[in-house]
Amino acid sequence: MKNWKRYTITAALPYANGPKHIGHLAGAYLPADIYVRYLRAQKRDVVFVCGSDEHGTAITFQALQENTTPREIIDKYHVLIQKSFEQLGIEFDIYHRTSEPLHHETAQEFFLDFYHKGLFKEVTSEQYFDEEKKVFLADRYIMGTCPNCSHDRAYGDQCEKCGKSLSPTDLINPKSTLSGAVPVLKPTKHWYLPLNEYEPWLKTWLVRDHAKDWKSNVYGQSKSWIDAGLQPRAMTRDGEWGIKVPLKDAEGKVLYVWFDAPIGYISATKQWAKNTGNNWELYWKDSDTRLIHFVGKDNIVFHCIIFPVMLHMHGDYIVPDNVPANEFLNLEGDKMSTSRRWSVEMHEYLHDFPGKADELRYVLCSIAPETKDSEFTWKDYQTRVNSELVAILGNLVNRVMVLSDKYFDNQVPQAGECSDLKAFITTQRDKISEAIENFRFREALAEMINVARHGNQLLSDKEPWKLIKTDREATAIVLYDCIQIIANLGILCEPFLPFTSKKLFAMLNLDERNVSWKDAGRQDLLKPGHVLGKAQLLYQKIEDEQVEAQIEKLKKTVAGGNKPEVITKPVEEKKEDKAEITYDDFSKLDLRVGTILTAEKVEKADKLLKLSVDLGFETRTIVSGIAEHFKPEELIGLQVSVVANLAPRKIRGIESKGMILLAENENGKLVFVSPNQNTASGSVIR
Ligand code: MF3
Ligand code: ZN
Repeated sequence: MKNWKRYTITAALPYANGPKHIGHLAGAYLPADIYVRYLRAQKRDVVFVCGSDEHGTAITFQALQENTTPREIIDKYHVLIQKSFEQLGIEFDIYHRTSEPLHHETAQEFFLDFYHKGLFKEVTSEQYFDEEKKVFLADRYIMGTCPNCSHDRAYGDQCEKCGKSLSPTDLINPKSTLSGAVPVLKPTKHWYLPLNEYEPWLKTWLVRDHAKDWKSNVYGQSKSWIDAGLQPRAMTRDGEWGIKVPLKDAEGKVLYVWFDAPIGYISATKQWAKNTGNNWELYWKDSDTRLIHFVGKDNIVFHCIIFPVMLHMHGDYIVPDNVPANEFLNLEGDKMSTSRRWSVEMHEYLHDFPGKADELRYVLCSIAPETKDSEFTWKDYQTRVNSELVAILGNLVNRVMVLSDKYFDNQVPQAGECSDLKAFITTQRDKISEAIENFRFREALAEMINVARHGNQLLSDKEPWKLIKTDREATAIVLYDCIQIIANLGILCEPFLPFTSKKLFAMLNLDERNVSWKDAGRQDLLKPGHVLGKAQLLYQKIEDEQVEAQIEKLKKTVAGGNKPEVITKPVEEKKEDKAEITYDDFSKLDLRVGTILTAEKVEKADKLLKLSVDLGFETRTIVSGIAEHFKPEELIGLQVSVVANLAPRKIRGIESKGMILLAENENGKLVFVSPNQNTASGSVIR
């Protein structure tokens, strides 16, 4: 194996035109983050880049359909996605944007480099144009009758009924899906990347260098693309949204999104280097740098064929050494899809399960679609959290902390002779390393958990709670060992469970900066007499109700067929005639963020729910007239705004203290007024 000097790790730039779901997370971002954390723990030189992919016809057409602008869509989701990643512990060195001027320059520089070297083929062809909307139509936006099977809703690139791939001019009676108008053919010039000319280079590179070390799904897909013969591919498009083609005779033309987006990795690295005083070129042009792209399987061709060809054409750049693409993650028996509302969006999970990022990381890593599609179900999520995280890792840590406190005054006991743990943990560490280095993260995670299992085994074999009555010294040895196991777990779990690792180090009162991956295996991470920190609960059981609420939610959104739309239309309701108030009037209100802990129907009252709401300083009972709008179970954990100093009222014999704020939308549907991110219960609203 080559001795790499540094690593450039990329994760596919998400399209910022909607939220991203846990399938994306499991496919690319989580494995990338685990890999990078592992490298960092080894003190390797690594940069981890990502950011928003903001261009592309999909975003343009979405904006046209929603009557808004690409900018507006993107600005919103860029922030949402970035924040979700952060809360999930996906720790990029930079989260850039392809709308940044630095990126535009970088992409244009690539284009001009090829242009001046005469590498493009310029081709003028006839393409469909929508005269009403004044745009050239991407293939997907033309519909017509399939010449093969007569299906009347075939797309310009494919008939979904018979599966035949089409070009728009094959369609009988083509229509623009934007306006319904009959599109007209107009000549237009574009710049093509002659992929066919690079076939020999690609083939040699792929077959000679990577037949063995790439995952078989990735190698196989790339190989069959090349074997089928590559065609020149247009690197420009007609349109306004995107990076302008930097040529005089290219008015109204932009770079193809798949031309500019991967270059986004380079511009992100440039920006990171600027921010941190590094030299970006080392990360992209030095042959001792290992470039690895983490992507989902739908991105394989772009990262294994088109982008490598571009890097090769430019000449100075390294090409990816690996593209460990994952397959897809299904959800409860069906394909995950944001537009069909059959998905668990990252931000929704974070909202519904606050503080449970590691739980999700754990489950997604253990079922990651590494070699074939896999399946997420809420029941399985619950089982894995409860019977693995809670019962194995959480339980071990909890027992050891409690027993050490009880018998040894919360200190690492003086142990005479210890059993030989070293060999076991060192072997585990090396197994984990080997698995991570070969992108087998599921296996690595399982070996990490085996370390905790070993600790539990030790406890149940030796039963220190009995042993203490007869043999204090032997008890000391057991607990000494178990404490070392936990300290080692702090190191070994960090790539997978960074929040847990932090908590472990705090509980052990150990500075994580003083240890690195190579310390795993040591049996003296904490010396006898070292005072431990405060015990804290690592995980809580996932209750049946939480799981049922999620399943309900899925079923409901799908049945209702409602897309995750942003409602921006103003409500056309007359302003209420209420007298003006002063600031003092307003400040009489004690408005607080509350978290709903329980919710139940009030007997014989169809409209009422009885809620207990955590206000931080106390838990309140509040009766609210919302039973016709919400199921009790879907409210658990929800954060709401509460008028905390409203005089108590008796409603149906129940004393209600406070009021929950809701908005009514134009259809009479009630929605909660909730903080847009998780906020401590009791926080003042003003
Ligand atoms: N936006 C693409 C997607 O979500 C991925 C772009 S990866 C990059 O499928 F390499 F182009 F950046
Ligand atoms: Zn057909």
